[in-house]
Amino acid sequence: MFYSKNTPESRASIEKHFLENVYKICRLCCSFASLLYKGKLILKFIPVPESLKPMLRLCFRSALSLFILLLLSNVSAIAAPDGKALFMSNCASCHNPVKESTGPALKGIRGSLPGDGWVYKWVHNSASLIASGDAEANRVYNKYAKTAMTAFPSLTEEEIDAILQYADDYKAPVAATPAGNANSGAPAESNTWLYTVITLSLLVLVVILWRANQGLKRAANDKENIPNEKEIPLYRSKLVIAVTAILIFIFSGYWLVNGAINEGRQQNYQPLQPIFYSHKVHVGINQLNCLYCHAGAEKSRQAMIPSSNVCMNCHKQINEYTGAEEHPLKTAEGKEIDGTQQIQLLYKYAGWDPVKKAYNRDEKGNILATPIQWVKIHNLPDHVYFNHSQHVKVGQVQCQQCHGSIEEMDEVYQFAPLSMGWCINCHRQTEVQFTNNNYYSIFEKYHEELESGKRTKVTEAELGGLECQKCHY
Ligand code: HEC
Ligand code: HEC
Ligand code: HEC
Ligand code: HEC
Ligand code: HEC
Ligand code: HEC
Repeated sequence: MFYSKNTPESRASIEKHFLENVYKICRLCCSFASLLYKGKLILKFIPVPESLKPMLRLCFRSALSLFILLLLSNVSAIAAPDGKALFMSNCASCHNPVKESTGPALKGIRGSLPGDGWVYKWVHNSASLIASGDAEANRVYNKYAKTAMTAFPSLTEEEIDAILQYADDYKAPVAATPAGNANSGAPAESNTWLYTVITLSLLVLVVILWRANQGLKRAANDKENIPNEKEIPLYRSKLVIAVTAILIFIFSGYWLVNGAINEGRQQNYQPLQPIFYSHKVHVGINQLNCLYCHAGAEKSRQAMIPSSNVCMNCHKQINEYTGAEEHPLKTAEGKEIDGTQQIQLLYKYAGWDPVKKAYNRDEKGNILATPIQWVKIHNLPDHVYFNHSQHVKVGQVQCQQCHGSIEEMDEVYQFAPLSMGWCINCHRQTEVQFTNNNYYSIFEKYHEELESGKRTKVTEAELGGLECQKCHY
């Protein structure tokens, strides 16, 4: 069952939320304005050196304008329909902006649809549009094996526009950036720097006001002839020293512990391999099954790396790379690679003579091969037990969930952090494929509860996936 979050109730609550926000913002504005006013008043009375005054005024003004800028950016975010949120809550279960999934990719689809608000009618109720005999509706319905699309009668035209605009503007994220080009890809749009600047300027303001207040007090004391306490400079004040020491202690402790835990982790690690072997060419373009080479993944703890005679099953025949035009090979640094030359390199390791079409042998008849020294990428610490067949065969977890889109990588990089939190989180969240899986037939209680409807799913955590000794020797 799919459901739309766009019900009248949720709209009412959004409206209420909006009003609350407006109210809060107004209140904030008022208090900030009064603060500024007070600051100005104080400036009038205290003996701030004349030369400093323009700077202080500048501080006040820039703080105020930044504050207003922030408010405006927030308000506009509240007011316009948020295409991304609407897309995520309504359409993402069947559509990807740039890839085909249950339905077509939505990026740029507007251009290919009939005009006259056709798309609104489609989204509001595609079934009735199909039933009316509309040509485009029937074409696309038949193309997608007559899968019905959910009707969204409550979406306004403005909201549908926002969704399609979001899809049009969508840029595919750079999947867990490989080490080589960690800086590519635009940084996510964020207000963080704005908040930082504002926080800093407010802090400066606080310090200035505090100093001003002190000055004022002294002036008043002087006037009434009350002796002033001797002023202690900031760096000798006990309070300041204590607070700084505690802060340094907390931050350096955090930094140290974090650094120690991350020691030995290597997410995004992408070493240069002895042969430029591309998973994209073999798995993505030529559709090889992972298990052809990593047969161990289904049967044992190790997935295994194939030996060179597995490669030679094909490469006795395939002696050149002809795909350079559609898919030029490049290292992460952008260096161009000649695929044919790489296959020749394979021959050297395998001891294959491509001219004679036979293996080179020594006088005893042994093949003169040297092992290819692939660089190991994934590497759990020795105190952790991990088993591939448990996940691939029993748990039916896809390779890609742990290794990322291998079929799109020329050079493999480590996609997942391989941290303990990563394993545990997945065990908490993953619903195990309980039915029709003999491995779980002994869990009678869960089967009964599933049948009686008492529970809808069983997670790996409930089967003991959080017990220390399952993963630690
Ligand atoms: C239950 C799955 C599902 C959901 C949810 C869904 N769609 Fe679709 N959509 C489809 C399918 C399937 C098709 C292909 C046509 C067909 O089989 O009905 C499609 C087709 C489309 C088309 C293409 C029509 C054409 O002529 O090419 C558009 C536009 C569209 N959907 C927009 C949306 C929008 C916007 C949302 C979110 C508000 C949405 N869809 C939600 C399944 C879905
Ligand atoms: C034609 C053989 C072949 C096929 C098919 C193949 N691989 Fe590989 N794979 C290799 C070789 C050789 C290496 C070692 C070189 C490297 O890291 O690129 C490797 C390395 C890997 C590694 C990194 C191992 C490490 O060092 O930690 C992963 C993960 C991996 N493959 C996953 C997959 C997945 C997932 C698929 C299917 C989508 C797949 N492979 C299909 C041959 C293959
Ligand atoms: C099932 C058949 C098959 C197996 C097994 C196989 N390859 Fe390939 N290989 C191909 C095909 C097909 C191409 C693409 C040829 C083309 O496009 O002209 C290719 C291309 C290549 C290339 C050039 C493109 C690139 O990836 O750099 C290299 C190098 C290569 N293979 C190395 C290997 C190695 C090393 C192994 C063993 C781990 C291996 N192949 C296993 C079928 C195979
Ligand atoms: C649940 C997560 C998970 C799944 C699913 C998974 N792997 Fe792995 N894979 C790992 C971890 C963790 C390692 C590191 C193992 C180690 O260092 O002992 C690894 C290591 C590897 C290696 C390096 C050699 C080895 O055996 O250590 C290869 C190759 C590999 N995986 C291929 C695959 C293939 C192919 C699939 C799908 C059939 C797959 N993996 C599915 C988590 C996973
Ligand atoms: C993508 C999700 C996922 C990740 C990531 C993952 N696991 Fe699992 N794990 C599963 C599932 C699903 C099962 C259920 C299979 C089963 O019950 O045997 C499982 C089962 C296990 C089991 C067997 C538990 C039992 O009850 O016997 C062990 C041990 C285990 N995982 C270790 C690990 C370790 C170690 C890591 C991290 C390196 C890890 N897993 C990462 C999904 C995951
Ligand atoms: C699902 C598998 C899993 C379970 C269950 C698990 N661990 Fe871990 N644990 C790991 C992995 C994987 C690592 C390695 C993390 C790394 O290399 O950073 C690890 C690392 C550790 C470390 C070393 C510190 C660190 O973070 O690297 C300690 C200590 C530890 N585990 C204790 C425990 C205790 C205690 C429990 C039981 C409450 C437990 N683990 C349960 C997978 C697991």
